[in-house]
Amino acid sequence: MMTKKIAVLPGDGIGQEIVAEAVKVIDRLKQAYGLDVELEQGLVGGSAYDKTGSPLPEETLQLARESDSILLGAVGGYKWESLDIAVRPEKGLLGLRAELELFANLRPAILYPQLADASTLKPEVVSGLDIMIVRELTGGIYFGQPRGIRTLDNGEREGYNTLVYRESEISRIAKVAFDIAAKRDNRVCSVDKANVLECTELWREVVNKEAQRFSNIELSHMYVDNAAMQLVREPKQFDVMVTTNMFGDILSDCAAMLTGSIGMLPSASLDINSKGMYEPIHGSAPDIAGKNIANPLATILSVAMMLRYSLNDAENADRIETAVNKVLDDGLRTQDIYSDGMKKVSTSEMGDAVLAGL
Ligand code: IPM
Ligand code: MG
Repeated sequence: MMTKKIAVLPGDGIGQEIVAEAVKVIDRLKQAYGLDVELEQGLVGGSAYDKTGSPLPEETLQLARESDSILLGAVGGYKWESLDIAVRPEKGLLGLRAELELFANLRPAILYPQLADASTLKPEVVSGLDIMIVRELTGGIYFGQPRGIRTLDNGEREGYNTLVYRESEISRIAKVAFDIAAKRDNRVCSVDKANVLECTELWREVVNKEAQRFSNIELSHMYVDNAAMQLVREPKQFDVMVTTNMFGDILSDCAAMLTGSIGMLPSASLDINSKGMYEPIHGSAPDIAGKNIANPLATILSVAMMLRYSLNDAENADRIETAVNKVLDDGLRTQDIYSDGMKKVSTSEMGDAVLAGL
């Protein structure tokens, strides 16, 4: 078997610290269980901008293209907030998604039973929660043209963006959602705003059409405002949710918080051949960067997702997930998931504990 190559892009803020812990985990799997991968680091986001003038240097794009998988930390920070939007750190991330056509973003929201108390919702509302949000990632209002800020005749400025989806973009993301549901509870809820936006009226029509090829799937539709409400009212009604880029951005943060901490959740962004970029769904948290207190588990669990979805190595993925469960059972908590009676640990102590569990 050929050695698989993983591009490692820590990015900004806590990205550096949490990716370092994930790399420790990969190294351990290499030593102990013969995981056959090589890692190469690259620059992305604000740190790339500082060194090269671009949040996505050509070299990084090249590295990402030639790698089998990409592990990303997070991008962004106060330092770069006043930059022109074209060179903001976020453009590095959006550029990778677009250039590699990573159109399918899988964001699981799973409640670890050990963390039921960490959620701001009542335990009975969230216990056993297991939702998969499938977010379209390379289209919609994030990428639609025209976009910009223009000055009107009267001198007033006007900002504008465009929400666009082609039928082919809708059907391919719907298919991903149906395929995933087929391996779960066979239920898909498609989220749109078809009562107001023509673009998502088409979305609903195409999702319905694609569903005809999946006879076992139970498909429902929900307007996004109601979906946001249902997520906090009765989240366990959902199995798989499929939605547009921006609605998915918003709903996945909401779903993440049901699980107690956004610091626990990994994500995968896949192309049509399941090549993928894996990253924690949380951001770069500049307020706590460099303090060794961030939760590295979302990034470590992103490695497990990578092994499962792109590198075909369920065995090592299981090893990571089992080790994470064990540290939670042992009562180890970073500050974001800490509750009374638990043992508070730092970023690197949490990483070491996972290593010990491997
Ligand atoms: C996410 C983030 C990104 C997004 C930002 C950092 C560009 O919020 O991955 O959810 O909006 O997609
Ligand atoms: Mg987001």
